[in-house]
Amino acid sequence: MRSKRKKVAVILFGVLFLCACGKQHQPSAEKIHIGVTYYNQGDTFLNQLISSFGNQLEKMKSDKLDITMTIRGASSSQRIQDDQVKELIDAGCNVLCVNLVDRTDPSEIIDLAREHDVPIIFFNREPVAEDMLQWEKLYYVGADAEQSGMLQGELAVDAILENPRIDRNRDGKIQFVVLEGEPGHQDAIIRTENAVDTLKSNGIELEKLSYRIANWNRAQAQSRMMQMISQYQNKIELVLANNDDMALGAVDAYQKLNYTETDIPVFFGIDGTDVGLEAVLDKRLAGTVYNDKENQAAAMAELAVDIVSKNGKARKDKYIYLPYFKVTDDNAASILKKVEMSGKKK
Ligand code: BGC
Ligand code: CA
Repeated sequence: MRSKRKKVAVILFGVLFLCACGKQHQPSAEKIHIGVTYYNQGDTFLNQLISSFGNQLEKMKSDKLDITMTIRGASSSQRIQDDQVKELIDAGCNVLCVNLVDRTDPSEIIDLAREHDVPIIFFNREPVAEDMLQWEKLYYVGADAEQSGMLQGELAVDAILENPRIDRNRDGKIQFVVLEGEPGHQDAIIRTENAVDTLKSNGIELEKLSYRIANWNRAQAQSRMMQMISQYQNKIELVLANNDDMALGAVDAYQKLNYTETDIPVFFGIDGTDVGLEAVLDKRLAGTVYNDKENQAAAMAELAVDIVSKNGKARKDKYIYLPYFKVTDDNAASILKKVEMSGKKK
């Protein structure tokens, strides 16, 4: 009886031993749980950036890499976003991607992340430099605002030189208005300043009629543009918008008021969102500047995987900036196609 028990015990031990050895040959997959929170779920550019991010992560998944992602939109409230970060950490996220509501107020989020040793990749809304120094596991992925403004200015210069009819009242000056993004956003004032400076330094005489803040938003831009049209009627020759959604809001305003083509200005945006590219293609927008969301998303995805799997050791550079490029009706179709292809499953 006793020896039988002994035998069973020996066999059991053997089986367990084999199982353990088998496991050693097949290491379990690296688990990356990414928590994303972004300032507002109605933002066209960010919705497309995050969907591209999801696609890229999907393509990186393998037997060795188990990637999951949880996404939260913060409804433009920093308090809500702080709570979301807490929730994401509690849910076991081991890396965070944060698009701050208030780019000057990341301290609570940084404290929470540091307490739990969860690195943060900030994106698109850049924290101020001192805050980025609060902890070594903070990163930023974005783009250079100055460059986008300069490129928008160059697009406008080319259009004005090519088409003298843009100066509709032929006074040798371009009467223009600006639609601006959120005050305090690194991409708002800087884009405007650089676009205007580029026009001036290329010898274009300008007369600024007015500007309105429309917070990146198409509907707000439409209503602000209606106000400016009612003030200046058909005097406006050029609309510079800090993003495509606002440029399209301005186009909507003229359409709503049934303006004919000879009385509407030229419009320039920034982003090259799907709606922006389509509008360039059918010439509702004279041009836009591509805010390279696919490569921003790819940089975020690689960084997230790197930080978790190598514990951040492989990365010394805290900042990654992707370049902008110009979009006109010459290259809009090919870009649209590329964007579509990059969204396809592997
Ligand atoms: C984009 C805007 C977007 C904003 C959100 C900017 O870089 O050009 O379209 O609304 O970021 O933070
Ligand atoms: Ca003029």
